[in-house]
Amino acid sequence: MAQTILVTGANGHVGHGLIPALKAKGHTIISLDIVELDGELAKSVDEKITGSILDHDLLNSTVEKVDTIFHLATTLALSSELNPEEAHEVNATGTVNILKAALNTSGKNGKTIQIIYPSSIAIYSLPNLETRNGVVVTEDEYVGNPQTIYGITKAYCESLGSYYSDRYELLAESAPGKIDFHALRLPGVIAEVGENETMGKYAGLTMIHSPAEGGGFEMYIKPDTILPFIARADAVNALIGISEAPREKLTRRVYNVSGFAASTKELEQMIAKAFPDSQASENFDIKRQSIVDTWPQAIDDSKAREDWGWKAEIESVASLQ
Ligand SMILES: NC(=O)c1ccc[n+]([C@@H]2O[C@H](COP(=O)([O-])OP(=O)(O)OC[C@H]3O[C@@H](n4cnc5c(N)ncnc54)[C@H](O)[C@@H]3O)[C@@H](O)[C@H]2O)c1
Repeated sequence: MAQTILVTGANGHVGHGLIPALKAKGHTIISLDIVELDGELAKSVDEKITGSILDHDLLNSTVEKVDTIFHLATTLALSSELNPEEAHEVNATGTVNILKAALNTSGKNGKTIQIIYPSSIAIYSLPNLETRNGVVVTEDEYVGNPQTIYGITKAYCESLGSYYSDRYELLAESAPGKIDFHALRLPGVIAEVGENETMGKYAGLTMIHSPAEGGGFEMYIKPDTILPFIARADAVNALIGISEAPREKLTRRVYNVSGFAASTKELEQMIAKAFPDSQASENFDIKRQSIVDTWPQAIDDSKAREDWGWKAEIESVASLQ
C-alpha cells in the first residue's frame, strides 16, 4: 500500500539509493537533510525539507504527515571520531527527537508509526585478532563495548528504538502512542560500480574511492584486513524488505544483513578493473587499523533470512562488476 515516507539524511550515500527505490514503489516521499538535495535525487521527492533533526518544531510538524520514517541522518565513523560531542548530538539526541516526534504523532492520531534505522557493524567489539579470524558474528555476540563514539551511539540507538517501541512509559496509566522500530546492522555499503563515489563517506575511516573529487582509491588499513560489505542496492532491498515484512514474522527488533566479506586488496583490485584511471595509494594509519580490528570480518544474517526471507543478490566482490 502506498505510504507517505520521511527519509532523514536523504542526501547521503544510502539515501541516493533508497529514495528512487521507494519512489518506484509509488510512495510519497518527504526528504529531510541539513544540506539541499542533489538535483537528480530531488526528482524522486515530493516534499524537500532543508533542516535538522535537532529542530523539534520542524520534526513534529513533519512527522505528523507520515506513516514510515527511514532515519538515515548521521555523522559517520570518521567525522564522529573527529568530533564526538557533535556525533552524540546528531546520532543520539537526533534519534531521540525522531522517536519522540513519532510517539507524539501516534498519540494524537492513533496510527502506529514505523521507523527503520540503519545501524552498523561498528557496534561490535572483537577482543583481539585471533578471535576476529574466521568468526562469523551473530547479533548477540561481541556486543556491549563499542570502541568508537559512532559505534556507541549506534548501539545506544538500537536500544532506544526497542525501548520506545516496547517499554516507553510502561508504568504510565495509558500508552502515549505506538511506534514500530526496527534496526538493520549494515556493513560497509558499496554503491554500484560506475558511481563516482563507490564507497561513500562511511568508508572514509578505512578507505575511500572518489575519482570525481580527484581522490582515487586510498587505503588507510592493511591490504589483508577483511571486512564485511553490502552492495547499496542490496542494502536498499533490505531496508525496504524489513519495512514490508509481515510483523508477525519478525522475532527481533535488530537484525544483521550482509553481502560478502572482502579484503582491502580485493576491493582495490575490483576498483582498478572498473576504474582503470583511478590511482590507488596505501596510506597506512595504525590508529584507524586499531578501530577496524575490533569490527568483525563477517556477520551472520541467518535470522533475517529465516524471519523475513532476506537474501543479498551480490554475494562476492567479483559480482559487483
Ligand atoms: N554508508 C555505509 O557504509 C553505512 C554502513 C553502516 C551503516 N550506515 C548507516 O546508514 C545511514 C546512512 O548513511 P550514509 O552512508 O548515507 O551517510 P552519509 O554521511 O552519506 O549521509 C548522512 C546524511 O545525513 C545528513 N545529516 C547530518 N546531520 C544531519 C542533521 N542534523 N539533520 C538532518 N540531516 C543530517 C547529512 O547531510 C548527510 O546527507 C546512517 O545511519 C549510517 O550510520 C551506513
